[in-house]
Amino acid sequence: KKRIFSGVQPSGNLTIGNYLGAIKNWIPMQDEFECLYCVVDLHTLTVRQNPAELRQRSLNLLALYMACGLDPQKCILFLQSHVSAHSELAWILNCYTYMGELNRMTQFKDKSAKHSDNINAGLFTYPVLMAADILLYQTELVPIGQDQKQHLEIARDIAERFNNVYGDTFTIPEPYIPKIGAKIMSLQEPEKKMSKSDENENAYVFILDKEDAVLRKFKRAVTDSEREIRYDEVNKPGVSNLISIYSAVTGKTFSDIEKEFDGRSYGDLKEVAGQSVAEMLRPVQQKYNDLTANKDYLNSILKENSEKAAYMARKTLSKVQRKIGLLPRS
Ligand code: TYM
Repeated sequence: KKRIFSGVQPSGNLTIGNYLGAIKNWIPMQDEFECLYCVVDLHTLTVRQNPAELRQRSLNLLALYMACGLDPQKCILFLQSHVSAHSELAWILNCYTYMGELNRMTQFKDKSAKHSDNINAGLFTYPVLMAADILLYQTELVPIGQDQKQHLEIARDIAERFNNVYGDTFTIPEPYIPKIGAKIMSLQEPEKKMSKSDENENAYVFILDKEDAVLRKFKRAVTDSEREIRYDEVNKPGVSNLISIYSAVTGKTFSDIEKEFDGRSYGDLKEVAGQSVAEMLRPVQQKYNDLTANKDYLNSILKENSEKAAYMARKTLSKVQRKIGLLPRS
């Protein structure tokens, strides 16, 4: 069976970008492949966190994974910090990664510009920890949104470099980036990615936003001064984003959507797209509320699943340690 790994940071409320670009695609994979889906809590430490909030958000993200349809009987749902092999392999891989490579990461450039008061070494080596996450499990496929593509490429480069020196050790992972939904844009500035950390709350829709908030944000979405509903990313980014969202939610093609809205107003498109999103989110929110009420249950899942993940991770880590010359514990 093909091995799948992916993760989301518990760094705030998740947006429909996280859902449509990543999590939604994880769901069908659990029936076909061997899947590990991780709450990547260590990655959030690159930005200063409130400890109590981080604990809460980590557990809530597990609940959200399950509310979206991930089944802990079918896939391994766990916390990154509960499997210490992630940190151990990350250190080793740091020594096989060049400063120059990390310097080219666009996310590092963006984030260090944004958090100029705290450009820590973790922010710089962030992609190496991500590579460790993936390579530990001999992952073949990594379902992610467009913005993580560069990080996947460096993971592949590190794996190939290591394999070249020590012989076959790591499986070279492939990205899985959906054709539609891989880059959901801001509803306010459609040239920019939708991000949970945007200052303008009308720019994003949270998975947990109430229906009236979802509809209101779509109603306020920025479009353009024409009238025609047509997909054209360059000249009509706002309208194209609404079409993409509606398409990703419903499975309708762009040309079907253009036909559906032929002669209709931007207001109609915003309303119909907003409603489709609200409908998609309703069952997720219901399940989420039930799950978060039962912390003991969530904690028991984490315990059981992290043991399974740790067992799998140990195999790769031991192999790596042996190959590079670390003395085995006897
Ligand atoms: P994170 O937490 O920023 O985002 C989680 C997933 O959501 C996708 N995504 C989007 N997709 C479409 N449109 C958007 N506007 C949008 N915003 C976010 C991201 O591409 C991602 O798939 N470094 C990763 C977490 C990570 C990881 C891993 C992922 C750590 N280790 C190993 C895969 C495998 C991150 O910060 O994602």
